[in-house]
Amino acid sequence: MSEVVLRGFGWRHAGRRAWAIRDVDLEIAHGERVLLLGPSGAGKSTLLAALAGLLPDDSGESEGTVEVDGLDPRKARERVGILFQDPQTQLVMARSGDDVAFGLENRGVREADIWPRVSDALDRVGFPYPINRPTAALSGGEAQRLALAGVLAMRPGLLLLDEPTANLDPAGASLVREAIGRAVGSGSTSIIVEHRVAEALPLVDRVVVLSPGGGIRADGAPEVVFAAYGDQLAEAGVWVPGFTFPPVKAAAAAGAPLVRADELTVAQRLSAVSLSTSSGEVLAVTGPNGAGKSTLALALGGLLAPSGGAVSAFGDPRPPHKWRATTLTGRIGSVFQNPEHQFVTTRVADELALGPRRLGHSAAAVAATVDTLLSRLHLTRLAAANPYTLSGGEARRLSVATALATAPRLLILDEPTFGQDRRTWIELVTLLAALRDEGHAVIAVTHDDAFVQTLADRTLALGVPRLPDHAPLPHRRRP
Ligand SMILES: Nc1ncnc2c1ncn2[C@@H]1O[C@H](COP(=O)(O)OP(=O)(O)OP(=O)(O)O)[C@@H](O)[C@H]1O
Ligand SMILES: [Mg+2]
Repeated sequence: MSEVVLRGFGWRHAGRRAWAIRDVDLEIAHGERVLLLGPSGAGKSTLLAALAGLLPDDSGESEGTVEVDGLDPRKARERVGILFQDPQTQLVMARSGDDVAFGLENRGVREADIWPRVSDALDRVGFPYPINRPTAALSGGEAQRLALAGVLAMRPGLLLLDEPTANLDPAGASLVREAIGRAVGSGSTSIIVEHRVAEALPLVDRVVVLSPGGGIRADGAPEVVFAAYGDQLAEAGVWVPGFTFPPVKAAAAAGAPLVRADELTVAQRLSAVSLSTSSGEVLAVTGPNGAGKSTLALALGGLLAPSGGAVSAFGDPRPPHKWRATTLTGRIGSVFQNPEHQFVTTRVADELALGPRRLGHSAAAVAATVDTLLSRLHLTRLAAANPYTLSGGEARRLSVATALATAPRLLILDEPTFGQDRRTWIELVTLLAALRDEGHAVIAVTHDDAFVQTLADRTLALGVPRLPDHAPLPHRRRP
């Protein structure tokens, strides 16, 4: 168990004028379980990085002090374990057991102790397979439980979890939360960042809310914090439990079909899906991890060639994957599952200008589009920032804004609301509703139940396709 003390702590990332986090005075005692909240960009991930010793001196400027068990976190790394939101980026080995053993070997744990610790950690997270299970054959929820086992095997006194269930379907997320529930009870101090408060509350006994301007906005037992500050926190962007937003369904009947798929199949990933979506309509595509939702989005968006069936759109005799790039950009705006790996410029504003410029829009029109999108999606202060340095929620909003920049009639969005705080979520939903009412068609792949309830006019629920057992999914890197 570790103790955390911050005094007047602040951090400014190199190249940024604004402090990511500032004036934080916080003490967390041994064994406490803390939910860390705050609007997107408030500095939650930065604070966890500081505690994990992941902010090297040359990567920014610091103020005040941060200590784990009285030590500079950079000298206390073996006491701290951190789990990020994307399980795939955390697994390194081909076989599940080796992945857990890897960290122990690196840390020079005695040979004889390694495998007992591996199997103990796998038990604690309820890992359902033998240790030789290929990591490439795990679903998202299973991969995240394996990554958690890797962290727990190190027996960290301080456990840090940064949106650990954000990339998972509801079933996978609840399995991971169960595993976290067992882990946080037993001998660690823990700090969890999670936008969806209701789900995280059973795992914690204290809530700390960061204020985006610096300092701490609220701190205490969850019931006390939400009773005293609920309205203010909701206003500031925090997902307070009991949140509801009135549905914004299509006002008019849907128009002519803009895109349709007949028995669309992509080898090993998706089988025989049929759908059609019209202008003035939002179609939500739901389903468990591994159902092929992202594959469907890529195939509909002309970014992947189907291996069977057909896709047709805009009355064009050729399928979208055969269109010229500029035709595609003008007609379909796509947001990928991990768009943050695909930014191509070094400034947020340039990233937004790219599409409209390619279509030959005038400089004035491009500038107007960029300004509007920046302000609608709360990115104005980040116009000059490098897209690769954005927080999780900011990066997702930039990717959605990029897809909207060319005003395409068809929008295909993979998890558009991922990582959003309450305020930016409402902005996003309102913006998409307005586009739908102007006659755009929206297809959104999503695990976000509130999004479906609020905005979707129809829902297509995909099941898990029956793939050969143990076949590595082709879109993951094969070890
Ligand atoms: N590596 C970096 N370089 C420069 N600026 C950064 C970097 N990482 C984060 N920032 C900036 O620091 C601020 C805080 O970011 P941080 O990732 O800590 O926020 P967050 O609270 O975790 O947000 P979210 O809920 O969206 O994940 C943001 O304005 C972000 O753009
Ligand atoms: Mg974050």
